[in-house]
Parts: sequence; structure tokens; C-alpha cells
Amino acid sequence: MPGEVEIRKFQAKDKAAVRQIAYATALMGESAGLFFQGQEVISDALSLYFTDYEPGSCFVAWINDQIVGYLIGAKNKIAAEAIFNRQIVLPVFFKALKSGIFLRKKNLILIFSCLKDLLINGIKTPDFNRAYPATFHLNIKADFRRQDIGAKLINAYLDYLKFEGVFGVHLATMSDQAANFFLSQGFGQLYKGKRSYFRHILHRDVPLYIFGKRL
Ligand SMILES: CC(C)(COP(=O)(O)OP(=O)(O)OC[C@H]1O[C@@H](n2cnc3c(N)ncnc32)[C@H](O)[C@@H]1OP(=O)(O)O)[C@@H](O)C(=O)NCCC(=O)NCCS
Repeated sequence: MPGEVEIRKFQAKDKAAVRQIAYATALMGESAGLFFQGQEVISDALSLYFTDYEPGSCFVAWINDQIVGYLIGAKNKIAAEAIFNRQIVLPVFFKALKSGIFLRKKNLILIFSCLKDLLINGIKTPDFNRAYPATFHLNIKADFRRQDIGAKLINAYLDYLKFEGVFGVHLATMSDQAANFFLSQGFGQLYKGKRSYFRHILHRDVPLYIFGKRL
């Protein structure tokens, strides 16, 4: 019988667990290992900005002394992307280069698929930053889904954003299940497109949803 879930602010000691869950859930809840070889690099890309530059906007869910999920957020997506581009991209690129990541077949196939997707679908999605400045990523370990933990993390984050005077939040997801979850939490669908970069794994295009909520 699982214990009671506790939602609390992220602490530096949670970083390894957050990185582990980020890797284990990156492909619509499945492991990043399905599409990429190089756990350190993918964990950096997915979580480093949030854990190291904006830890105050991050929350974790605990059950029985283990972290089972997280919400890592940014109050202002434009500012977060500027820091990501300035401080994170180059060091992570060199880390990837040094560890030979660009020579691995799985990664080369992914890079090729992304370039092909750019040609087919273009890079642009509509910009919702002005009306919905904040953003976040939310992931729960597979065995702990559908236990109200995602809803509790969202509530903690939305309360925090309101307290901080942030008036809107948006996020992107490729998962139909996550789309249903965000609708159930009062988010509205702002955009739906499609992406082809996981075709070599999933043999289909995936939707790209953007959901938003005014606070
Ligand atoms: C999507 C996710 C964050 C939802 O968190 P969760 O803890 O599993 O969801 P909750 O138990 O809080 O669900 C609350 C409500 O959302 C809806 N919901 C949640 N998951 C759903 C699903 N797979 N299909 C349909 N509705 C769903 C339901 O209405 C649910 O209430 P119910 O369980 O009483 O029916 C979690 O399942 C997850 O981490 N999935 C994999 C990674 C991912 O897709 N992350 C989102 C991308 S940012």
C-alpha cells in the first residue's frame, strides 16, 4: 500500500532523482533511451536550467522517502530560454562532443529525423509567451500515475505562480494522455500541430499540443 504523497519545493539534494525521472519519462512517459544514447546530456538538456537557475519554481512529490514525480517550472519562458541559450547550450554541446555522442548511430538517426522534420513541418509554433509567460515540465514515474500526484503538483505550482504575480502559463506536450490530463486541470488547448521526428521509432507522426491557462 503506497504511503501518503507529500508535495514540497525542490531542494538541491533532489537533483539526481529529478534528472533520473526526466530521462526515464522523456518520450511521452517512456525512456529517452528509446531515441537517444547519452543520459547525462539528455538530462542536462531537459532539466539543468530548472534545477540550477530557477530551483524556486520547482516542486517534487515524495512517497515513502522516494521522489516519484516533479514539476520543474519557469516564471518567464523567454528569460529562461535566454539563459539556456547563453549558459547551457555550449557547455552541453562540448560535453556531448567529448563523450562521442555524435558518433552514436541512434543519435545520428535522431539528428537526421529532426532536420527532416524541420524541412517538412518548419520550426515555428505560435508564440504564447505574452499572454502566458510561465511554463513547466511535469513528469510522474510510471508506477505512480493516475494517483492524483500530477494534479497536486500542478496545484502547488499554480498557487506559487499566482503568489508571484504571474498571470498565465503554457506548456507543450506530444502525449494524448497528457493532453487529457491538462484539459482535466482546466487548461485550454491553444494549438495542435504535428511532428515527424520520432517516426523511425513510433512509425507515425506525433501531435504537438500547446496548452495554456490564465491565472
Ligand atoms: C500526464 C501526467 C503528468 C499526469 O499525472 P498523473 O499523476 O498521472 O495524473 P492524475 O492522477 O493527477 O490525474 C488527474 C486527472 O487527469 C486526467 N488524466 C490523467 N491521466 C490521464 C490519462 N492517461 N488519460 C486520460 N485522463 C487522464 C483524469 O481526469 C485524472 O483524474 P482520474 O484519475 O480521477 O480519472 C503523468 O501521467 C505523466 O507523468 N505522464 C508521462 C509524462 C508526461 O506525459 N508528462 C506531461 C508532459 S509535460
